[in-house]
Amino acid sequence: MGTVSYDPLSEQSHSDPYPSYALLREYAPVYYCEDRDVWVLSRYDDVRAALRDWNSFTSTGGVELADYVGFFGDGNFLEMDPPRHDVLRKVFAPRFVNKAIKAYEPMVRASAIELLDGVAGEFDLAATLTNRLPVLTICRLLGLPEDDVPWAAQSAIDMMTRPPDEVGPSDSAQALRAQLVELFLREVDARRAGAWRDDVLSDIARAIDDGTMTRDEVQGVTLLLIAAGMETTSSLMGNIVAAVASGQVEVGDLVDDTGDLRPAAIDEFLRYDSPVQWLCRVATVDVEIREVLIPAGSRVLMLYASANRDPDVFADPDVIDLDRDGSRNLAFGEGIHFCLGMPLAKLETRIGLGELFTRYPGITATREPHRYPSHIIRGFDSIPVRVA
Ligand code: HEM
Repeated sequence: MGTVSYDPLSEQSHSDPYPSYALLREYAPVYYCEDRDVWVLSRYDDVRAALRDWNSFTSTGGVELADYVGFFGDGNFLEMDPPRHDVLRKVFAPRFVNKAIKAYEPMVRASAIELLDGVAGEFDLAATLTNRLPVLTICRLLGLPEDDVPWAAQSAIDMMTRPPDEVGPSDSAQALRAQLVELFLREVDARRAGAWRDDVLSDIARAIDDGTMTRDEVQGVTLLLIAAGMETTSSLMGNIVAAVASGQVEVGDLVDDTGDLRPAAIDEFLRYDSPVQWLCRVATVDVEIREVLIPAGSRVLMLYASANRDPDVFADPDVIDLDRDGSRNLAFGEGIHFCLGMPLAKLETRIGLGELFTRYPGITATREPHRYPSHIIRGFDSIPVRVA
């Protein structure tokens, strides 16, 4: 093979990146994209090893290609290295482990039922369910007053909606960001003044009181929590729904005896069409991979979605096999930044789509679904369907 050409921000990468990933893995596993000045890792072993090596591959330079570094502000531990990263993550870890998340099952189910109540015939499943359940869930988990939840959920969606050609946050995104932070601070301050509750905002208030974090860091942690679980989980749910609506998979093969989604089916969709296609790191030292030198200071793109189609790890990787053990997939990352919200994302998908398919085992597409403009997130912001 002479030359492989790959641009993470091209139209081809947005519509169907998988053929390029196969070429990269085979012929240019350590690839330099001149147009974007970024190195690209595409094989499972390379992506995983680099993600584990946070000393050589820092997150402090931002994890995207566009100019969003620092948008969430102080406290965004996704863009931190240890030791500060570990201190902040620890504040939230207990509430996001499997055991703790199980307690939210009734709330998530009630939210899904509320969203599906009264829908029938033809409608947009993204606007109705898949784009709304994740953001409502995280607002409730944070502990926002019920009266503020609809506004906060819509504002968070609007803040994260980015036109395709946008290179940095717009004025309206900045304004929404400021209003959301004001709300979070108001709630944290109320708890510190004595209105304690059993919620994430109380965990934050306690961490400020005991000196673990500062009041300035409230912005970064809250915006990270609300944003990280929104379009990602929407995409997972939407990719499954779109596959059903187009006849690619059958509802009967997705659900278990209780009517909820089977965990193996969820893992397989995370592997097959990963909601987060890639994120970046910056090399802190010269790093040699497969006899190619990546110079210190280089931006390096980790193709999680390509790693998840690596034939050295997953047999017949381009085939959806709902019984496959796909749990080794890198859809939630690897190492110190491994997704904090994995149990929550799986719970929402299991229950949200379980409720949907129990009501409507017959879902067909009425038009092509529409993709998020993002090159990082692979999912749909509109899924027009007819249900029966
Ligand atoms: C299917 C849904 C989801 C996917 C595919 C996903 C994917 C990811 C990935 C790939 C990372 C690693 C980032 C990196 O390597 O730099 C990550 C981190 C993170 N995710 Fe998720 N995520 C999902 C849902 C959620 C949810 C529901 C939450 C809820 C709060 C969440 C919160 C976070 C946080 C806080 C981090 C940063 C962890 C750290 O830096 O230590 N995610 N996620």
